[in-house]
Amino acid sequence: MSDQARIMVTGGAGFIGQNFVHHIAGLGRFDKIVVVDALTYAANPTSIEPLIRSGLVVLKRGDITDATFLSRCFDEHGFDNVIHFAAESHVDRSISGPDAFIQTNIMGTYNLLKCALGDWQKRQMLDRARFLHVSTDEVFGDLTLEEPPFSETSPYKPSSPYSASKASSDHLVRAFHRTYRLPILVTNCSNNYGPFQYPEKLIPLMIINALLGRKLPVYGDGLNIRDWLFVGDHCSALSLVLEKGALGRTYNVGGNAERPNKTIVERICDIVDTAFAGSPALAKQYPSSPTATGRSCRSLITYVQDRPGHDRRYAIDSSRIRRELGWAPAETFDTGLARTVMWYIANEPWWRQAMTSGFHEWVAENYGARGALAQRLSSSQAQDSAESQG
Ligand code: NAD
Ligand code: TYD
Repeated sequence: MSDQARIMVTGGAGFIGQNFVHHIAGLGRFDKIVVVDALTYAANPTSIEPLIRSGLVVLKRGDITDATFLSRCFDEHGFDNVIHFAAESHVDRSISGPDAFIQTNIMGTYNLLKCALGDWQKRQMLDRARFLHVSTDEVFGDLTLEEPPFSETSPYKPSSPYSASKASSDHLVRAFHRTYRLPILVTNCSNNYGPFQYPEKLIPLMIINALLGRKLPVYGDGLNIRDWLFVGDHCSALSLVLEKGALGRTYNVGGNAERPNKTIVERICDIVDTAFAGSPALAKQYPSSPTATGRSCRSLITYVQDRPGHDRRYAIDSSRIRRELGWAPAETFDTGLARTVMWYIANEPWWRQAMTSGFHEWVAENYGARGALAQRLSSSQAQDSAESQG
C-alpha cells in the first residue's frame, strides 16, 4: 500500500473541497483520494458520486473532532498527503453560534495534526509526506482603502470568531512544523466563488435570489471590499503548492479582483438580465424573477443592517506564489462571474437540494432581524442604482 499515492481531503464534500477532488482526479496524481467529511449542512457530495463509483474516491463520513475516527482513517489508508479544508466557514454563523467554529476549526485541526504526526512518525514518513492547511486572508483583519494588500508576513489581526478560529489553526499548524518537523504548507486565500458553493454566501445567494425574485440583501452601505478568486484557480494553486511548495512555507492566493459588494450584486443582476433577454425559456423556468417581466433584477437590491464587526477591505498580494511556483489565475473576475451565474442558472436541482438542509431557517434567523432596518438607505441606494443604470 505504501508505494501508492494516497491523499486525505478533509471537507472534500464542501464547496472548495469537491472542486479540488475533481481537479486532482483529473490530474491523475493519486491512486486513492479519501474524502473525510462530517457532511454538515454545507456538504453536498452528489458531484463526487461518479468518482466514488469509479473506485478512485472513497468517502468516509466522520468528524475531525473525533481523534479515534481520524486515527483509524490513517491506519486504514496510509496517506502520504493531507489537504485540510474541513471547517465551519460562514462568518455570520460564527457570530450567532461560535461554539462549532472553536470545536471544528481549532480542536479538529489539532486532532488532525496529532494523528498525521503520529502516523508519519510511526511509518517514518516525515521526510516524504505533505500536509497542506487551507486558510483565509481573513486572519489578517481588514485594510483601509490606502493600505497595501496582505502579504505572507502581514500581522494576524482577526475580527470575527470565524477568522480568529482560523488564525488559531494556522498557529497550531506552524507550531507542529517548528516543534515536531511536521511537513506542512499553508495557503491563505481570498473569497472564492464558483460552482457548488452553498447558497448562504454572497455570490450564490444573490444569483438564486435574483432568479427567484427575492430581495438581494446588501449589508451596510455595500462598500465593503473583498478580493475574489475563482474556485478553479484556487484549486490549481493548491495542487501546485502541494506538489512543489517549500515545506514550512506560506503562500497567499488571490484573484487580483478587488470589488465592493454593491458592484458585485449589480453585476450579477446585469448578467441575469442579459441571460433572460436572450432566452424566453428562462422566463418560463424562473417566472418570479423581475427580469422575466422585463424589469431589471437590480430592483430587488435592498440595503439591510450591517454585520457586527464587518471587515471593510481585504486585498491579497499573490506575488510569492506567482514568482516561486509560476501560478496565475486563468479567469478574470468578469469571465469567472459569468461562468458562475450560468452554472447556477443551469443547475437548479443542485441548489434546490442544498436549500433543504436548514437553509430557510438560517435565512429567517440571519435576515429576519436585519430586514426592517435601513429602509431609508435602501430606497435612496436603489434609486442611485436605477439612475446609474439609466
Ligand atoms: P464549506 O463550508 O463549503 O465546506 C466545509 C466542509 O467541511 C463541509 O463539507 C463540511 O461538511 C465539512 N466539515 C465541517 N465541519 C466538519 C467536521 N467537524 N469534521 C469533518 N468535516 C467537517 O467551506 P469551503 O468554502 O469549501 O471552505 C473550505 C476551506 O477553505 C475552509 O477551511 C475555509 O476556511 C477555507 N477558505 C474558504 C474561503 C471561501 O471563500 N469559501 C476563502 C478562504 C479560505
Ligand atoms: P460572505 O460571502 O459571507 O464572505 P466573507 O464574509 O467571508 O467575506 O460575504 C462577502 C461579503 O458580502 C461580506 O462583505 C458580507 C457581504 N454580504 C452581504 O452584503 N449580504 C449578504 O447577504 C451576505 C451573505 C454577505
